[in-house]
Amino acid sequence: MIKDLWYKNAIVYCLSVATYMDANGDGVGDFQGLMRRLDYLHGLGVTAIWLMPFQGSPGRDSGYDISDYYCVNPAYGTLGDFVEFTHAAKQRGIRILIDLVVNHTSDEHPWFQEARRDPSSKYRDWYIWSDKKPPHADEGMVFPGVQKSTWTHDRIAKQWYFHRFYDFQPDLNTSNPAVVAEILKIMGFWIQLGVSGFRMDAVPFVIGTKGPDVTRPREQYDMLRTLREFLQWRVGDSIILAEANVLPSTDMQYFGDDGDRMHMMFNFQVNQNLFFALASSDTRPLIKALQRTESRPASGQWGIFLRNHDELDLGRLTEAQRQKVFEAFGPNKVDQLYDRGIRRRLAPMLGGDRRRLELAYSLMFTLPGTPVLRYGDELGMGDDLSLPERTCCRTPMQWSTEPHGGFTKGNKPAVPVISNGPYGFEHLNAAEQRRDPNSLLNWTERIIRMRKEVPEVGWGDFEALKTSDDAVLALRYDWRNNSVLFLHNFADEPREVEFSTGLKKEHHDQLINLLSSDHSEAAKNGKHSVCLEPYGYRWYRVGGLDYLLKRSEY
Ligand code: NOJ
Repeated sequence: MIKDLWYKNAIVYCLSVATYMDANGDGVGDFQGLMRRLDYLHGLGVTAIWLMPFQGSPGRDSGYDISDYYCVNPAYGTLGDFVEFTHAAKQRGIRILIDLVVNHTSDEHPWFQEARRDPSSKYRDWYIWSDKKPPHADEGMVFPGVQKSTWTHDRIAKQWYFHRFYDFQPDLNTSNPAVVAEILKIMGFWIQLGVSGFRMDAVPFVIGTKGPDVTRPREQYDMLRTLREFLQWRVGDSIILAEANVLPSTDMQYFGDDGDRMHMMFNFQVNQNLFFALASSDTRPLIKALQRTESRPASGQWGIFLRNHDELDLGRLTEAQRQKVFEAFGPNKVDQLYDRGIRRRLAPMLGGDRRRLELAYSLMFTLPGTPVLRYGDELGMGDDLSLPERTCCRTPMQWSTEPHGGFTKGNKPAVPVISNGPYGFEHLNAAEQRRDPNSLLNWTERIIRMRKEVPEVGWGDFEALKTSDDAVLALRYDWRNNSVLFLHNFADEPREVEFSTGLKKEHHDQLINLLSSDHSEAAKNGKHSVCLEPYGYRWYRVGGLDYLLKRSEY
């Protein structure tokens, strides 16, 4: 059993060492640089960092093509630097989650090199081979439009190998117990070095059956229990956060009925429907997505996010809904990717409109689960659409007005810093925003502080309240004899809503605003009536501020 449910109420911040801060001036970020920014992260209020892959890699998919699982890519530092970093983070109460990329390796990994050279090598069976080109080789690509097939002929092996992702990422044969044993070793290695768990990459593909005859992969859910058990035996409070963009009907398979599989999962259903709601001002599909993903074991938790390092995948929406989101947030071909998503960062998608950014973030912090922020979003950073595929939203952090945004003292950052225009580092950077009390950075810091004071969101049960308007989402959370209530107006015009808290009379007549002083008093009929400005939001505590005196112990 897990010993500590810290992740139920964490504030997670996702970053890549490569683009955060470059201390040695070679143009690539490093652990030394990241360590110098830990106080910034601590000040922002984050309690966990999800680090994107930093191990040995040829770097053809931003490190998601690993060629050595047991080292730090020399461009970022050494294992010594890594341990210094986890230690420094721990001193500040910040936990570290790292990516666990074990669906595939790089084709330069020595395992694959040996496997392709020698049919009798033990590593041959660590990958998936076929003598002939399988009939469905042109199906199931994750990156359509860029990736041509899922099987590629290898001239050295004289066989075809399977790759769910790019052709330089051969899939590991995860049905081979030796491969699973190695995955456990990798996990054991990094938790020994101080991490608190893993963001597990591509989970449905890791556990799916693979082979030339497999047309519909079958998930081997038991594998999830094996991974979790191992982790818990080694370090009782370490967790797995699963990247699994799956249908709600299978959620419980991933969490495990007894909470014995994944601790956390990203809520892709809510993410996509949230963007639809932002695009259409219609919250009904979002409410449905919240309700369909409501059940999870008591120890399970959703990761709530807006944008991440990939494209905004809209593949789970209907065609009409998807077109609506494209129209609103990524109408041009250059904005879109893989026939299903938008590759822009959040701020340019929302036209840099501060009201809409606050609305979106307020939602990220108050939808059921644990918020996962992306670096630079606290500043409203933009993207560089001249860069290929997803690199456009992976540009260096903008620290100051100094050359290259204060990211590096070198002449040439490996990925250029966004310069000029409304999102250029000259206008948009952490140093300037820190000086401005009304900046997005300071707003984010304040909202995180308040979010930590409403543990009801992370721990409690929610109810979507009936409002008189589909553009307004009203959610109430209950936990330990306390309730909080949130309103969000998705429309670009003021809306007045009438609603009842749904609680017993003696509890509901007062709503105390946590962010400003316009509280709400129920009318005689017990209903509240609130007028929200365009894209307005409210965070209320139900009852009064003496809630801590009323909180129960269970
Ligand atoms: C999902 C990751 O988020 C993405 O960036 C990567 O390209 C694929 N998995 C392959 O590892």
